[in-house]
Amino acid sequence: MKNFAGSWEPGNDRNNRDYKLKNVILIGFMGSGKSSVGYRLSYALKRSLCDTDSLIERREGRKISRIFAEEGEQYFRDLETSTLKRMLEKREYRRCILSLGGGTPLREENRKLLKQLGTVYYLRVTPEMVWERLKGDTTRPLLQTEDPQRTIRELLEKRDPIYMDAADIVVECSGKEQDEIVEFIRKKTVEK
Ligand code: S3P
Repeated sequence: MKNFAGSWEPGNDRNNRDYKLKNVILIGFMGSGKSSVGYRLSYALKRSLCDTDSLIERREGRKISRIFAEEGEQYFRDLETSTLKRMLEKREYRRCILSLGGGTPLREENRKLLKQLGTVYYLRVTPEMVWERLKGDTTRPLLQTEDPQRTIRELLEKRDPIYMDAADIVVECSGKEQDEIVEFIRKKTVEK
């Protein structure tokens, strides 16, 4: 059974997975707060923060919007997969906070890699919350459409079941302060 925020019990994790590398992994739609929650968690838990989008940008020497424009989405998706594979191999990615790009869990291969990397928290938001946070944003190539509000609704509807499938723990963010979300994940992590 899926573990929802507030009803999670230690030992009740899906498949009683052995969280070998003990990373805290944040997934969720664009604008769900992965980066800012991740940043605050890294302070609260004294762990390093690794943001896969930033790692990709650094490795490629260009912004994600340019990677999409110059190479296309598939190329970027391949970079996401190779980034996760490198994380599995390198010792420095243990007990970190990993903040992922919103589309990373979409590939089944990536979801399998995430299972090996640590505990996956899905920051679940509504389309309204995303729109409030991202209206006017020009850095997300997928939202540069004629009707970004509709794009958000459609993409989120399609992706929500996939995020749910990838998640060990679902954090319902609607109506919660960010402090509460950070504290919830911090507590779950130290209890383990
Ligand atoms: C994407 C989300 C972005 C970034 C890229 C694609 C997606 O990251 O990886 O623009 O497919 O949802 P954020 O979720 O950090 O915005």
